[in-house]
Amino acid sequence: AEETLILVKPDGVARGLTGEILRRIEAKGYRLVDLRLVDADRELLAAHYAEHEGKPFYEPLIEFMSSGPTVAIRAEGHRVIEGFRSLAGTTDPTTAAPGTIRGDLGRDWGLKVQQNLVHGSDSPESAARELALWFA
Ligand code: GTP
Ligand code: MG
Repeated sequence: AEETLILVKPDGVARGLTGEILRRIEAKGYRLVDLRLVDADRELLAAHYAEHEGKPFYEPLIEFMSSGPTVAIRAEGHRVIEGFRSLAGTTDPTTAAPGTIRGDLGRDWGLKVQQNLVHGSDSPESAARELALWFA
């Protein structure tokens, strides 16, 4: 079956929302295959976010993702990549639809980077690449 990488980012872990986010993933019907708490170092984050290098939010993003532990999840299910992106909602938590993780639990804190609680791989290629990084 298809697999994806889901991250509960440091804001989600710090706010105690890991359980609520895992609950939503499981309630949707996806299976947790593997899960770990990671203090991501710069090397891992630079590889994970290589596509954003040079953008104005890149440095704040790496700093934010280094600010505390992240929960990395290997999840499985038919169309889980698309399905989790839908559960997560759009990138900006202020306008993400209610009913989604970002829309229900997130907001803009006026910082240089959008703290939006979760990450989900956006394609099968990204999922394979990101799972290899976080579950090396
Ligand atoms: P991920 O699942 O985390 O990859 O989110 P995404 O796919 O919805 O967004 P994207 O990959 O485009 O950007 C990665 C992360 O960078 C986002 O989750 C935000 O934390 C941050 N980010 C993206 N775009 C912006 C932006 O325009 N402004 C700011 N301040 N942060 C951004
Ligand atoms: Mg992305």
